[in-house]
Amino acid sequence: MQEKIKQTDFLIIGSGISGLYLSSLLSEFGAVTVVTKDKITESNTYYAQGGIASVMRNVDSFESHIKDTINAGSGLCNIKAVELMVREGPSHIQKLMAMGTSFVRKASGDLDLHKESGHSQRRIVHSTDVTGKEIEESLVNAARKKNITILEHTSAVELLGSHHLENNIENNRTSTSCFGAYIYSRKTWDIIPIRAKATILATGGAGQVYLHSTNPSVATGDGIALAYRLGAKIANMEFYQFHPTTFYNPKNGRSFLLSEALRGEGGIIRNSKAIPFLKDYDPRGELATRDIVARAIDKELKESGAKHAYLDMTHLSKQRLKTKFPNIYNSLLNENIDISKDLVPIVPAAHYMCGGVFTDLWGQTNIAGLYALGETACTGVHGGNRLASNSLLESLVFASQIAKKLKDEVPSHSDKKLKIKAWKKENLSSPQEWIVIRHNLEEIKRIMWNYIGIHRSNHRLKLAQKHIRLLLTEIENYYQRSHVQNKILELRNLSLVASLIIDSALSRKESRGLHYNSDYPINSKQSEEYTFLVNKLESKIDKYEQK
Ligand code: SIN
Repeated sequence: MQEKIKQTDFLIIGSGISGLYLSSLLSEFGAVTVVTKDKITESNTYYAQGGIASVMRNVDSFESHIKDTINAGSGLCNIKAVELMVREGPSHIQKLMAMGTSFVRKASGDLDLHKESGHSQRRIVHSTDVTGKEIEESLVNAARKKNITILEHTSAVELLGSHHLENNIENNRTSTSCFGAYIYSRKTWDIIPIRAKATILATGGAGQVYLHSTNPSVATGDGIALAYRLGAKIANMEFYQFHPTTFYNPKNGRSFLLSEALRGEGGIIRNSKAIPFLKDYDPRGELATRDIVARAIDKELKESGAKHAYLDMTHLSKQRLKTKFPNIYNSLLNENIDISKDLVPIVPAAHYMCGGVFTDLWGQTNIAGLYALGETACTGVHGGNRLASNSLLESLVFASQIAKKLKDEVPSHSDKKLKIKAWKKENLSSPQEWIVIRHNLEEIKRIMWNYIGIHRSNHRLKLAQKHIRLLLTEIENYYQRSHVQNKILELRNLSLVASLIIDSALSRKESRGLHYNSDYPINSKQSEEYTFLVNKLESKIDKYEQK
């Protein structure tokens, strides 16, 4: 095994926008290895529809984008992180275009900008409703042209800490430094350590922890779980964002995302009696932030017992809908729904993890040599609720921050003489009954959906905690006894992420942003406090602007 030990300067785990954009930047000054557990394009990024929020025209301003972000985040954003993201954003959109990404332009040649909820301006750069696919494919092409090692169908099993060094006999499973990762090939079943000067987690979110999600099957929170086990700080996990509009398929329940941009173009949400109701919840109606819209739909469904609400686009012309949303238009037509004539049945579904591995403004975690970015990280830009289309922007800007940092400072623990222990394979068995794994996974998803979805209560959170802790122990025992396989790794990671979400939710003794607990209803005093906090953050931007 020892002769197979590999070494790289930068080990990136994950191949969405975060991992691939960063890989291109880092390849300018070091050897880069990208590890990705499916084919390279399979990521949350690929399925992103809406676009990237950024200030791209004179009538818009950085202050306005910063204020919108802070407002959505319920006073919990890190203002420095938000300012950095917003101000640096436009240059990275330009860079993406230079790398081959194509965004829709108007006849005048200017970028066509969409509007989405929570934004006070049109500022969403897009490639109709397949923006993620366009970005992902252009970044894959760019990476393939560079000298980047891409290991597809390969999963990270554990991050390398000091306890993995040869001659280290400590029992401690956490570490203050990271030296790379044990990597598992799904093709050869080999597990080898890859040593790296810097290891970067870009594994996206964990939508698979919920029964209904907009995320692909690879979104199993691997980066959070890997980092937590090594001793990294994790933050804000209670803030799981539910997208208000996913298509409700009467045949099989939920299915695909219906972009926020539909509401930006005037889409109306109606209840089961076809009556609009969002203005009863927020004066901005359909364009209120996602936490408010998803919660309002959930409440209407619970009170009426209806299975779904409706999205109404019928007041827009067929031509306009087909041009702006070709993918959505055709996907729904395949389901016998013509959005220019028919109401679309919709339900909210788990969409985006606002919390994650806690980092500073340079993507650095509390562990030397370990970095995180994108949906895996908690940089503080999203606070209690992410503003629509800020996610791809965050990935670009923080990839650039990590690249700047690593260009200047190679982590000091990157001694080539360090020897890593080979992966232990003795006394392991292969799973006899895969059905147990499927049942455990289904149980986690159902517990999370039923007890820790959009509306929460202390009682339901405690029930969820009890069940998930039992599953966590059972799955961990199973993992320790079994040969590594991707499904087992994913199940182990998801059970840990579920438990982190529940523990975080229980520790927040208030309702805030995406976390709504009926035992702590928002009263007028709290609303005033939140407004005060948002205003306090906003006043800091104004001062900054005046300097
Ligand atoms: C959407 O198109 O609605 C998704 C965009 C986002 O999650 O920000």
